[in-house]
Amino acid sequence: QNNDDRFRPGFHFSPPANWANDPNGLVYYEGSYHLFYQYHPYSNKWGPMHWGHAISKDLVQWQHEPIALFPDEHGAIFSGCCVVDWKNSSGLFVDSHGLVAIFTHADTHPVTGQPRQRQSLAYSSDKGQTWHKYDGNPVLAEDDLIDFRDPKVFWHPQSERWIMAIVAGDHARFYASPNLLEWTLTGEFGKGEGSHDGVWECPDLFELPVDNTGRTKWVLIISIGDNPNCPEGSRTQYFIGEFDGNTFVNDNPADHILWLDHGRDNYAGVTWSDVPQEDGRRILIGWMSNWKYANETPTGSWRGAMTLPRVLSLASKDGNVVLIQAPVREVEQLRKEFMSWSGITVTPAAPFIQKMNEDLLEIEADIDLRSGSEFHIRLKSSGLSEIVIGYDPAKEWLFIDRSNSGVTDFHPSFASKHGAKMVSKNGKIKLQIWVDRNAVEVYADHGMVVLTDQIFLDAPMDRVEVSTQSGEAVLDSLQIHTLEPIHI
Ligand code: FRU
Repeated sequence: QNNDDRFRPGFHFSPPANWANDPNGLVYYEGSYHLFYQYHPYSNKWGPMHWGHAISKDLVQWQHEPIALFPDEHGAIFSGCCVVDWKNSSGLFVDSHGLVAIFTHADTHPVTGQPRQRQSLAYSSDKGQTWHKYDGNPVLAEDDLIDFRDPKVFWHPQSERWIMAIVAGDHARFYASPNLLEWTLTGEFGKGEGSHDGVWECPDLFELPVDNTGRTKWVLIISIGDNPNCPEGSRTQYFIGEFDGNTFVNDNPADHILWLDHGRDNYAGVTWSDVPQEDGRRILIGWMSNWKYANETPTGSWRGAMTLPRVLSLASKDGNVVLIQAPVREVEQLRKEFMSWSGITVTPAAPFIQKMNEDLLEIEADIDLRSGSEFHIRLKSSGLSEIVIGYDPAKEWLFIDRSNSGVTDFHPSFASKHGAKMVSKNGKIKLQIWVDRNAVEVYADHGMVVLTDQIFLDAPMDRVEVSTQSGEAVLDSLQIHTLEPIHI
């Protein structure tokens, strides 16, 4: 088996061949979820960007579609979004509605020779099958900005206009428009706020209810580019606050940083536009890689995959509002066999060991930490490699250790142990783990703590081992579903 097949995900989206990065143009329209993505169709490394395209009825089974947007005289097609122009505010459709893509055109400034990033439109009257570039492109340019990209647009009913969140190096900007064609700057946010470990990229801005209180808050998502001095590489933060139609105001102190994911491989995540009101979900998907090593991962002729689509909601925790994530329920259709155990005591001398004939799994574990010793779930290969998902009660720290996870030598910072602060409840924790051939996703503390990591085992995963480092722990309940691969 060559690497191409070995690491091809079973239930995460990946491109047919060649390079993919950010999800783009996420929109639901006339019964289909669209997923566009940064795509380089001629190589497994980043290059002149196109928009690849896939559609799905259920966010699980994807169908590849022809490339939607090709580079043109204004440059490559960087990240952006799609909206349904329901009222034909743009006038681009003949008495009807259709899809409008708002994206960054990236080229070189003819005079200064510096990178130039300007915002442009394309539209489709046939449900995303064929696309036309707007002939007035670009529609938004700021000559003094070098980094100016990744527009995310939504309709703001309160002010009856379109709002664009976009990033400009060290801050986000907000522009408003009646018609998607003409844009006016209304506000700026971010200088000195949150993390500035790297250039700001891929914003998203939306309103969500808090718990079930009827109260709402606005969420501003900002991805942060790689910084050679940060082992974490590129990652995504979010802010909680208010948006008054013009600008965003942070509820938290400027130095308070909220991470969307504490793993290393969830970047550039944004949410679907136009999910029907009766559904009402805010669904995010991220690029499951990291600029630190994205161009070097050992997958072969294809490279780059997406996270599971996740439903976002807000909850209050100790007086603060935080994001909660859960994979979309549609993923349950992949469940195949079911195994379950309860009341199993584990110690280093007597670990729980289950051989597996299949390597696509959903695991749910309720753990009583008893002796307060470090607890491990090990996903082992028939070779010598393993992924350790662990919890250290003394440090109150949930982690993934992929230092011995097989193919790790493609980049020095890949083989690492990393995680997040998490407090156990009465000495108990609950973990939900999705295991694929190229990655694991771990959800804990009701989805408040999430870790997403790429993993490249030396041979297929064939064993689940549960144990502690010293004392005893009890698996109150352990449930494993084997999963059907998606048809793609
Ligand atoms: C984020 C990003 C975006 C840009 C795109 C280029 O990963 O750097 O800021 O639009 O990728 O492919």
